[in-house]
Amino acid sequence: KKERKRPVRVYMDGCFDLMHYGHANALRQAKLLGDQLVVGVVSDEEIVANKGPPVLSMEERLTLVSGLKWVDEVIPNAPYEITEEFMNTLFNKYNIDYIIHGDDPCLLPDGTDAYALAKKVGRYKQIKRTEGVSSTDIVGRILLTFKQKEAGSMEATTDANVAVNQNTGADTYDKVKSQLSNFLPTSRRIMQFSNGQILRSARQLGDFLLVGVHDDQAIRDRRGYRPIMHLHERTLSVLACRYVDEVIIGAPWEVSRDMITTFNISLVVHGTVTEGSSVVGIDPYAVPKSMGIFQTITSPKPITTVSVATRIIDNHEAY
Ligand code: CTP
Repeated sequence: KKERKRPVRVYMDGCFDLMHYGHANALRQAKLLGDQLVVGVVSDEEIVANKGPPVLSMEERLTLVSGLKWVDEVIPNAPYEITEEFMNTLFNKYNIDYIIHGDDPCLLPDGTDAYALAKKVGRYKQIKRTEGVSSTDIVGRILLTFKQKEAGSMEATTDANVAVNQNTGADTYDKVKSQLSNFLPTSRRIMQFSNGQILRSARQLGDFLLVGVHDDQAIRDRRGYRPIMHLHERTLSVLACRYVDEVIIGAPWEVSRDMITTFNISLVVHGTVTEGSSVVGIDPYAVPKSMGIFQTITSPKPITTVSVATRIIDNHEAY
């Protein structure tokens, strides 16, 4: 008789600040190297000591990492360096077989490799780092997008600001774009991020979450500034979430009757916390409301793009 083998447990650690699809893609690849993926989220103190303050707190980073579909367990307040002591904890307490990191060098302040020990004992494996995105890049994009804050228009929600941003924001955005968004997801990558169980769960009413992701122009028209991440990047981020079954890539601002029929939508939900719209008088949910299939859900956290941008700008020097 064949003996039932113990599952292979792999460990990946990181700061996972301003969670992006590069992180999601790293965790996806790590999960493929084993059966169960344990993720160590590095503590605020360790990040401060090794690379400067994170934008998101331990609690926020933990929430984001736990929501990714490839993550089975999380270890909060992980150390930045794989020390001998922590490595033994991973092997003995968490039954970890391999420690995994991207193929980019991860150095300690003294220039030594943070994974040297794991490599030495032959328990290290590597995944391919995703080009074109990093937490540092995102901070840069945010600083460029919200640069007009200095001119006193952080909210960027009035019509006047829309005009201002369309003029002055354009060059900076194109500059950022030329530097950073040479990234295009293939249909294969989108499939890798998807559940693949769409049809099965679709049959169970209310057990299927379809997320509409607006296109870049729609956001620019409504908010007055361009989105920090373009449509494809935002699509992958949403698909990486374990609660999401399917995404409408480039959903219209208003939920139409046609959409509701086409996608067989039984309930439309929206959170209580929103980034204000610069276009007044149009209710994007008028149709589902009139059909009695609209519901507001309480947002668990007050965090928004602007509030994250505010943190970064207020601490500009530190990042
Ligand atoms: N990672 C990746 N591709 C990226 C960014 C990160 O594969 N574009 C991987 C890293 O190699 C690491 C894990 O994600 O294994 C966690 O990375 P993290 O500690 O958050 O930091 P960085 O490598 O510095 O990533 P970033 O620059 O985005 O902060």
